[in-house]
Parts: sequence; structure tokens; C-alpha cells
Amino acid sequence: MKFQAVKGTYDILPTDQPRWTHVFEAAARVLGRAGVQEITPPIFEHSEVFVKAAGESSDLVVQKEMYTFTDAGGRTLTLRPEFTPGVLRAYLEHGMYTRPAPVKLWSRGPIFRAEKPQRGRFRQFQQVNCEVLGLETPLIDAETVTLLYRTLQACGLKNLSVKLGSVGDPEDRAAYNRYLREELGQRAEELSKTSRERLRLNPMRVLDSKDAGDQEIVATLKRPLEFLNADARAHFDAVQDYLTDWGVPFAVDSSIVRGLDYYRRTAFEVHHAGIGAQSALGGGGRYDGLVEHLGGPATPGIGWAFGVERVLDAVAQDGVMQEAEAKPLLFLVPMDETAVAEVARTAFGLRNFFAVQHGYKERNPGKGLRDAERSGARFAGLRGDRERERGVYTLKNLETGEQLEVAETDLESFLAARLEADVQVGSL
Ligand code: HAM
Repeated sequence: MKFQAVKGTYDILPTDQPRWTHVFEAAARVLGRAGVQEITPPIFEHSEVFVKAAGESSDLVVQKEMYTFTDAGGRTLTLRPEFTPGVLRAYLEHGMYTRPAPVKLWSRGPIFRAEKPQRGRFRQFQQVNCEVLGLETPLIDAETVTLLYRTLQACGLKNLSVKLGSVGDPEDRAAYNRYLREELGQRAEELSKTSRERLRLNPMRVLDSKDAGDQEIVATLKRPLEFLNADARAHFDAVQDYLTDWGVPFAVDSSIVRGLDYYRRTAFEVHHAGIGAQSALGGGGRYDGLVEHLGGPATPGIGWAFGVERVLDAVAQDGVMQEAEAKPLLFLVPMDETAVAEVARTAFGLRNFFAVQHGYKERNPGKGLRDAERSGARFAGLRGDRERERGVYTLKNLETGEQLEVAETDLESFLAARLEADVQVGSL
């Protein structure tokens, strides 16, 4: 039997890891500067937390996308299919609503959805997620959208398009759904099978259909934006004014619909043209009423999440990511048995300051230098009988071929001086 990663999952190999770190560091930097604090909820929760939050007409529930299981104690648990419900549960459990508003929280980590795998769609994927709780001013909506845009920019992305819409208040949505049921109900047999199903459970999702026939019908329909009440309209206009003022480029999308039921008013997505059909890097919206729905005090909120796999795909398309493998500065070669323990001890000392690797068995100089070159090191340090007697290492600069002896006790200052020289050349 040959084991393989489960369908829809993948390994992040050591060569790819720096790209992931780069994204998480960009998020930590941009969000941290805006006062967003990191929170890490558990990977699984009581299923009810997710079911109640997502809503019965959400994709997660309708398309049975949740990984749910019963544990030995008979509890029904679910691997998180999004961060929002767990973050809000923690916000309530720890009384964070008593803190001065807004409370800003971000998270990173794996998310699980039983979806059909394809490019940009996995069963285990990773999100960076952000929630801003406690204020309903449109200023917060504009700030939150800007944070998503800025974070994606900081990841190295250029060709971003921000789509901004509003799904209105619950009564607006109800009115629009009634309108859709009436209009589409008359043409149900012309719709694709998925859209017929959506029409029954969540008519707004029909707008999202990729089917060409469906899209012809959708093109004849009124848009959700035409159903906004006066307050929701004014809110939406104010969000746009802020974004325009701050120079955040966006386009109003009159038919933005999201796969989760909890959204109210502002809804947004950021897309990238180069990553195929699943072009949404991230998205989110306002969810006033959700905290209350989960048993807390009435608390407005807004947030977003982006998928890290899609962002990395987009970064590769934009061609801005440099290969960033962690290469050692120095590779030590033991040329006899005694030197094996000696180079290990030297490496441990130097690792307080530099990336240092070494061989684990006796090597002749030719093979040892090849090991050093393969590691990508800039210097090789050879150690044998002759070096031991003199208390030195023979150092070879693998870029220039230059060779010299450096006393054991001088290795640290020698390497530090070389790095210092690099910085000076780089800053000229
Ligand atoms: P979402 O739109 O369901 O929103 O997911 C956000 C992002 O996660 C998507 O734009 C996409 O990049 C990524 N994503 C979703 N499903 C997959 C998948 N199967 N494979 C790879 N990437 C995927 C939410 O999750 C909301 N909780 C966001 C939010 C936070 N709203 C308010 N606060």
C-alpha cells in the first residue's frame, strides 16, 4: 500500500515554506500597525457554532461542506469551515464586548471544506481572517476593506480589483429574494440544475451561477443594489466616499452575493485576473446581528478572509516573488573522525548569530566541498589534522574560490565582517 495525501489536501514543502511565511508576516505587519490583534481559536468547535452562524441557506450548509464528526464523548464537532464563528464565540466567551470599540482581531490557519477540488479550491486550505467588532459607522467598513487591500498589496500583489457592493438590510434581502422567486420561478425549467436548487434555498446565489444559460437570464434581472432602503443606501455611499478619499481603487459591483447568510449591507471581494475560475482572493462584509444571533449582546461587526493558496498562486502570476530558500552562510566539513564532533560544537556556537550547517561524517576535501556547494553556502570551513594542530579552519569562499585560514576564535568576527561588507555594498 502506498500512502498519499488525501484528495484536496497538499504538503507545504520546505522550498515553499518561505512564501507562506512571507504572506503571514505581511499580514502581521499591516494589521498590527492598524491595531488588529491576533487571536487563535481552536480548529474544531461544537458543530452548532458553525451551523448557527452560517445559516441554513449558506453554501456550507446547503452543499454539506462541513467536516463533522462525533467524538468518543458523543459530542458533535466540526472542523472549522471559516474563522468568523469561532472568533465571535471566543469574543463572547471572554467578554471582549466590554472593551472599548472597535475590537479588531485577526487569525491565520487551516480551514476545512468538503468541496470539489480544483485549481484554487482545496478541502484543507489556509485563511488569513480579520474581524472588526463594535462600531457601525461606514468609516469602519472603509477601513476594513482598505486593510484587505493593503494586506494583499504587502504580499507583493499588483493586479488587484476590489469589488464593492451592498446586500442591504434583512428586509431588503427578503424583498429581493421575493422578487427573484417570482421572476425566476416563471423560468425555472430554463435554469441549470444547481440554479433550480439555489432558487429554492437561496435565490440570490443564482446570480453567481457560472452557467452561460443562467447568466443570460440573470442579465435581465434587477440587481440587489436597486432594493436598498434609504439608510442602507446612505451607508453604502459613505463607504465609497471614504475609499475614494483615501485613493483605494474599487468598482461598484451591483450584484455581489456571498455564500454565507450573515452578511448585511457592505459586501466586498478582491479578485485577481491571473488565477483561473476561482478568482476571488478574499472577501467579506458586514454582519450586524450575528453576535446577537450567537447569544451575545447586539454588536455590529464586519470582517474578511483571504485564501493563502490563491494569494500565492496570484503572487506567482505577478512574478514578484523571489526564491527565498534559507541557505547557510557557512558549511563545515569534518575531514577526519575527530573533526565530526568539533565541527558540530563550532556550528552550535556560531548559530547564535549565523545560519551554519555541517557534515555528519568524515569527508575528503573534494567531496566535502561538493557537500558545501550543494547546501548553497557562501563559505566552506574545512577541519582536519593540520587545522586542529593550529587551532584554525581553512575557509573557502565558494563564490570567488579565495581560500584562507581563520582561527577558531575569529570565525564569528570574520563572518560578521563579511555580512557587514554586504550591507555596505547593498546600500551604495
Ligand atoms: P469566504 O468567501 O467563504 O468567506 O472565504 C474567503 C476566502 O477563502 C475566499 O475568497 C477564498 O480565497 C478562500 N477560499 C474559500 N474556499 C476555499 C477553498 N475550498 N479552497 C481554497 N480557498 C478557499 C469567509 O470565509 C468569511 N468567514 C469571511 C469573513 C470574515 N466575513 C466576515 N468576516
